[in-house]
Amino acid sequence: MTLRKRFTLFTIFWLIFILILFNIFVYLFMTKITTRSEQQVMTNKVNLILENNKIMDKDHLSDEGLLREFYNVNELIRIITPDGKTVNLQGSDTDLLALPVKFEPYHVQGEMFVGSTRVLYMKVPLYEDSEIIGMLEIERKLNLQDSYMKVLVAALSVTSIGAILFAIFGTYWFTSRLTAPIQHMVQTMREIDRSGKLRKIEIGDKEESAELLQLIRAFNQMIERLDRTFARQKQFVADASHELKTPLTVISSYAGMLKRWGRDDVKIRDEAIEAIAKESERLQNLTKSMLMLAEAEQEDWLSLQTFDVVQMVDELASMLQLTFQRQIRVHTSAGDLRMSGDKDKIRQLLVILLDNAIKYSKEPIDVTVSSVKQSVRIHVTDKGIGIEENEIQHLFERFYRVDGARRRTTGGVGLGLSIAKRIVDLHEGQIDVFSKPGKGTTITLQFPQTLKNTSGR
Ligand SMILES: Nc1ncnc2c1ncn2[C@@H]1O[C@H](COP(=O)(O)OP(=O)(O)OP(=O)(O)O)[C@@H](O)[C@H]1O
Ligand SMILES: [Mg+2]
Repeated sequence: MTLRKRFTLFTIFWLIFILILFNIFVYLFMTKITTRSEQQVMTNKVNLILENNKIMDKDHLSDEGLLREFYNVNELIRIITPDGKTVNLQGSDTDLLALPVKFEPYHVQGEMFVGSTRVLYMKVPLYEDSEIIGMLEIERKLNLQDSYMKVLVAALSVTSIGAILFAIFGTYWFTSRLTAPIQHMVQTMREIDRSGKLRKIEIGDKEESAELLQLIRAFNQMIERLDRTFARQKQFVADASHELKTPLTVISSYAGMLKRWGRDDVKIRDEAIEAIAKESERLQNLTKSMLMLAEAEQEDWLSLQTFDVVQMVDELASMLQLTFQRQIRVHTSAGDLRMSGDKDKIRQLLVILLDNAIKYSKEPIDVTVSSVKQSVRIHVTDKGIGIEENEIQHLFERFYRVDGARRRTTGGVGLGLSIAKRIVDLHEGQIDVFSKPGKGTTITLQFPQTLKNTSGR
């Protein structure tokens, strides 16, 4: 069932329920009020009749003038003696005249039905010096009140039906306005599904409700994110295939050379084997880095823990020192410095930076670890070849290398800093490059000590 139908049905049923309760209340209340006022009229009449002294005299009970002035079309007034005889009577209503004559020595009053008409009655004993001489009886038909109540019921029904109709149209109109943007969203989603092209939902000029705006914004944000991811992936595939092509071309052309002249010419054979070995290694490095980057693109790549940065940097520095036979000096003021993050990824990030420092410099390398205002700062400084200022902005692009000529000597693939940037982003950190050509390079990292949002970007 659609939201609109559900909402309309719910409103209608709820309204009907309220109206029924309300109408019942009004009906009962009005009946009670009118009956009470009729009873009051009867009581007043009885009091007036009793004011006459003749009514306390056995001989005058049948006087014609005693009841005449109280005559009313919808009433019957009579006096009945203890032996059950009617001695005085006023009234012309046949229904009331047909009521049985019965003497009762007590005061009684109440309500009964004659046919379908309500009748109020009151019976009062009459005394002459403490001796019961008769009974005054008044019967009053409530046919006028009943007809008023019928009008009331009709009016209540008409207004209730009118209210329900208005409510049906109102809710239908309102819910169609309310659900129009949702339907628009569904349509857009279907279109995306059909065409495979991501599209955002436009926010109209009409004032939408806050929740719907939130929904549309969340949807658009999701689309934007997907769009960015797709674009990144496309770019990655394009860059990767381009980068893979060069070493493959080199390998296949050297293999061709080997095939043709390799058996006879030793020089060519050695050159070809050398080149093929070098390019294969490059291919290996390239695919390794590419896989790592592809992995880094995943949103839930991090596994968080709290660890000591100083200890990690120390261990890493001595390991690289041994492997590359280069001096790496670690400076820190704090004995230990804890931060939350993915230890392996931070380590990988430092390996990337130190690998560059080792590759692009010859002097000793300095690593400084410090803590500034709830954040951890790491500087990696080398006194190497440095980077031109206009190149710095491109360093984090994939496959970007400052000078094509360096490729030959250092053999990098240009993915290190892209991976580094991704790791920094996932840790909500910051990475900056300060460099002067010929003087050296400092890369600074800054991370919050505790991670708030781990959802990645
Ligand atoms: N410390 C540094 N000194 C001088 N140049 C640097 C330094 N670090 C990076 N660069 C320059 O930035 C470029 C990009 O670095 P990046 O680490 O991304 O790639 P790479 O080192 O060439 O290859 P790899 O993917 O193997 O690390 C490098 O090619 C280099 O020209
Ligand atoms: Mg590198």
